[in-house]
This record gives sequence, structure tokens and C-alpha cells, in this order.
Amino acid sequence: MKTIIEPFRIKVVEPLRFRTREEREAIVRQAGFNMFLIPAEDVLIDLLTDSGTGAMSSLQWAGVMAGDESYAGSPSFFRFEKSLREITGFEHILPTHQGRASERILFELLGGGGRVVPNNAHFDTTRANIEHSGAEAIDLPIAEARQPRLRQPFKGNMDVAALEALIERVGPTNVPVVMCTVTSNNFGGQPVSLENLRAVRRVCDRFHLPFFLDACRFAENAWFIKQRESGQSDRPIPAIVRDMFDLADGATISAKKDGLVNIGGVLLLRDEALFQRASNLLILTEGYVTYGGLSGRDLEAMAQGFREVLDEDYLRYRIRSAEYVGERLLAGGIQIIEPPGGHAIYIDATAFCPHIPAEQFPGQALVVGLYRHAGIRGVEIGSVMFGGGGHERPALELVRLAFPRRVYTQSHMDYVVEATIELFRERDKLRGLRILSEPPALRHFTAQFEEL
Ligand code: F0G
Repeated sequence: MKTIIEPFRIKVVEPLRFRTREEREAIVRQAGFNMFLIPAEDVLIDLLTDSGTGAMSSLQWAGVMAGDESYAGSPSFFRFEKSLREITGFEHILPTHQGRASERILFELLGGGGRVVPNNAHFDTTRANIEHSGAEAIDLPIAEARQPRLRQPFKGNMDVAALEALIERVGPTNVPVVMCTVTSNNFGGQPVSLENLRAVRRVCDRFHLPFFLDACRFAENAWFIKQRESGQSDRPIPAIVRDMFDLADGATISAKKDGLVNIGGVLLLRDEALFQRASNLLILTEGYVTYGGLSGRDLEAMAQGFREVLDEDYLRYRIRSAEYVGERLLAGGIQIIEPPGGHAIYIDATAFCPHIPAEQFPGQALVVGLYRHAGIRGVEIGSVMFGGGGHERPALELVRLAFPRRVYTQSHMDYVVEATIELFRERDKLRGLRILSEPPALRHFTAQFEEL
């Protein structure tokens, strides 16, 4: 059988809310043309993010009922810890309320003025936390990552030669940690190979530097490794996952992605002293070490979610869904980052609306167009997101359509494809934008725009 079906059936439904085109026009203006300021009730298909937007399984909901809310030493914590320990092999496991809380703790400990933190590609909160500590965040993707049309199996890889050169230039004492993000969200949800992770590890060993993963989408990355890396196709996903984690000294994880929960995060550490210091910071702002800002029921949902995400039927369906949308958009003449990523499709906004120059935010024009035309909410990943605060304009102007896990069906995806292709046929009507107001950091969340 060729068709890959959703490997679940649906027990609870949420109605979608339809708005007319006129209503959407008023809504998008009211929101200052910023998708983050549109009430979710006014969105038909919400592809803003795959983060915290997934559907939980019946076993996860059962865990929610079983959650123990003891302040200290809750059995829910021990189930969470056991699950994470079995999957990742890490000794020290701290729960946090989400990925950026893990990042904040890590960089409060390892960051600081004069320090440099390399990554294949820092996500915006990672970069912001590093910069907030006074350190510098540097992206070292392989050159192929910047070429949307190029098909290469592991476009998320880090440029290992550039990493070595950077460490030699700034001096290893100024590099507190080397990070690698799996999969690379900023460069199209592209995976990182085991071979590349091993090469980064070797560089870290040579300079005696710790190596951390940003492992939000570790299971999707492992699926790509199984499909694409030589010698991996017969190996079980948990073994590949374990190989990835075994290479690292620590990891920050947003459980809102491959943890299959709506809220939660993890900080994994091997070093005992660092763990003690991180625990102290956790207690200071998040909560005691056996709940970390979460409720016992959240810990139960994570304990189960991290196991479920390793299921091959789930991963096959998950990655195929994104690939399906990608193939159909390409067939409709729309340039995306190729090959399709794990959690999202990234449309090349420069190619979609060549009449809009980068300083007029072609990605933002496209997300506004998609909302107006069909009530679909995507997110700009380009000059709006990364060009503020004196930063250089990013290499690519992209629009990300991120897919919540286990939420939308194939007909929803067909609607998204159809609407995007219709908009593409009328792309001349899309208009550039100008920023009216913006905050000093992370401007994409609250900036207000006007159309030109
Ligand atoms: N690292 C990566 C690679 C991410 O994609 C995210 C979140 C984070 C860290 C931070 O995790 O949101 O739990 O604090 N990405 C979401 C997204 C927001 O839409 O891609 P968080």
C-alpha cells in the first residue's frame, strides 16, 4: 500500500472557526499586520509554530489524571526522569517550563562578556539568551544550507572547518560551549548527520570544550538519519537517538516539540558541578528541582510523550506529511527550501514575490497574503525576525509553515497547498511593508507594520 495514513484515530475534536475575507481584512489591519497579534480564534489553519501546539494521546491524558502534585519528590518527577534517562542516557535531568528556560539557565552559567558560542544555527531565543548574558552567538551552517534549491541529505550540518577556525581565532578559553541544533530550525528544519555530530565532538575534544545539543526535534532528526545516513537504515530509532545524545555533554530541549506536550522543557547535564549550579538557578526562578516550574501532570505527559515520539509509524507519517506539502508546492511552481524539512515547509519569499525588495519584508508580505486569502497563519523567518537590533539582514527571506503534531489531517494540508498556489498566481498583488514600531529585541513578536 502506497498511502501513508495518520497512525491514530480522533477521539476529541475542536471545531475550526471560519471567517469571511472581509472579517480577515479588518483583523489583519487591527493586528498591525503582525501574525502574533492576531487572535487564534480568527485563524483557520494555524501553522505559526509546531511548538506546544500538538495533540496529546489518550495515554498522555491518562498521565495528566495520574499526575502527583507533591512539591518535592513527586512520583511524576521520577517517572519523567526515568523516561528521559532511558531515552537520552543522561544522569542529570532538570525539568523546566520550556526550552528557553533551559537556555536561560545554561547561559547564565556559561555565557558572559567576551565569550563566543558557536552553533550550526541558533534559534532566536537561544541567540537572545546568549546575547543577554553578554556573549556572542555565531552561526556556522555549511555553505549548502544557504542554497534553497540544493538537495543534500544533511543541510543542517555544521561547518566543522569554520568551527575550528573560529575556536583558533577567538581562543578556546573564550568558547564556553559548542552547540548544535537538531534539526536546524533556521535553515529549513534540515537534519544533522551522526557523522557531522561526531566531527564536531572531535573538535570539542581537541580543544577540551563541552558540546551541547539543542535537541528540540531530536526524534525527527533521528528519522532522517535512519532514512539518509549510510549504515543507519536497519537501526531502531531509539538507538540512533541514543547515539546522538551520547556524543553530547548536555542538551537543552523544548518538550513542546518532540516531547509531544503543550508545555515543558528539559536541561540535560553530565557535569556534576554544573548540575548543582543549574539546580540552584532553577530553584531561584523556575521551581524546585523535582518540578521546575511545571505541574506533576505536565511531567507525566512528558514522560509519555518522549516515548511516543520514537514510534516509527508516527515518524514516518510525520515526515511524510511535510514532504507531501513540499512536493505539491514545488509542483505548483513555488520555491521552497529543498528537500522539505521535518517540522515545516519553508517558502522562499524572495522567489515568491520578486517585486518586493528585502527592506520591504517579502516574507511578511507573504504571511499577510496567506492570512488574507485563506485564514492560514504562517511565520516570517527573515529580515523581520533576524534583521532588528542592528543585526545584519539574514541570507534568506523565508516563510515557515510549521505543522503541529497529530493535529491536522491530509485534507487540511490539501487546503493549505491549494490556497498557497492560488496566492502564487496572484502574487503581483502582494505589497511590501514598513515597520511603524518595534521593541529593542525579538521584534517579530510585537512590531507593527503598514503596507506600502
Ligand atoms: N530551540 C529551537 C531550535 C527552537 O525551535 C525553539 C522554539 C527553542 C529552542 C525554544 O523553545 O519555545 O520551548 O522556549 N521554537 C519555536 C518555533 C518557538 O516556533 O520554532 P521554547
